[in-house]
Amino acid sequence: MTVSDTPAVEAQGLSKTFGQVTALREVSLTVGRGEIVVLLGLSGSGKTTLLRHLNALETTTTGRLHVLGEDIAGLRGRDLRRLRSRIGMVFQQFHLVGRLTVLENVLTGSLAGLRGPRLGIASYPREHRRRALTQLDRVGLLDKSYQRADTLSGGQQQRVAIARALMQEPEILLADEPVASLDPESSDQVMALLRDIAAERQLTVICSLHQVEVALAWGQRIVGMRSGGIVLDTPAAELTREAAMRIYGRMTATLAEAK
Ligand SMILES: Nc1ncnc2c1ncn2[C@@H]1O[C@H](COP(=O)(O)OP(=O)(O)OP(=O)(O)O)[C@@H](O)[C@H]1O
Ligand SMILES: [Mg+2]
Repeated sequence: MTVSDTPAVEAQGLSKTFGQVTALREVSLTVGRGEIVVLLGLSGSGKTTLLRHLNALETTTTGRLHVLGEDIAGLRGRDLRRLRSRIGMVFQQFHLVGRLTVLENVLTGSLAGLRGPRLGIASYPREHRRRALTQLDRVGLLDKSYQRADTLSGGQQQRVAIARALMQEPEILLADEPVASLDPESSDQVMALLRDIAAERQLTVICSLHQVEVALAWGQRIVGMRSGGIVLDTPAAELTREAAMRIYGRMTATLAEAK
């Protein structure tokens, strides 16, 4: 088996408890390279906890987890940093530094490969600046490069956050509710961008969402979570109302309206 045949993610019987709360319940999931998976579930169903495990930000209570072929439980120090550098993250709240320019924000995505703190665009190697501008061009924001990040719209800021994540040339991109605070049009733009970039770069994208309509429109494979467990795993095109019931329970009336 060559490295790229190794699944991006292989979880077996993964469980996580926080005191009395079971956040993940016997989660088994295999995600292949280049797949786009949407984790769909209500608030508290375990989406963020699962994503945090994939980036080794959370330790497993029981079960096994391999990410990019590495057994997460055994990783420490430099090996852990090396694995994390292969995984990009974007979040609902973008986490940009508002007073810095868009270009500087994107440049911070390459910090893992550089020593010491940086002050200003000129302190980054020319090659990094060139790559940052290329990423900004890819997300359609080259013309905003020298504008302060906090002057951009929410959708634009999320695209900057994606450009920043791409600086490390990740093999997996984890997106935790990337469109939860965006209007429908910006949300479509961000989801289309994630889909296109995944296809172009054979990038694995694992994206949590709580809106059924967005998942149905943009997901390829939908993994439904409820109370920490996986209750469905299906191609989006085959997601039936009955299947979605298991994720949403009493909310099926809303789903029926959405379809
Ligand atoms: N650090 C923590 N300490 C205690 N409980 C936690 C912690 N992190 C998560 N939980 C609990 O684990 C469960 C799953 O939470 P998680 O954040 O993964 O859900 P989620 O699906 O991402 O929800 P949301 O849609 O609201 O973001 C919840 O009951 C939550 O309260
Ligand atoms: Mg969450």
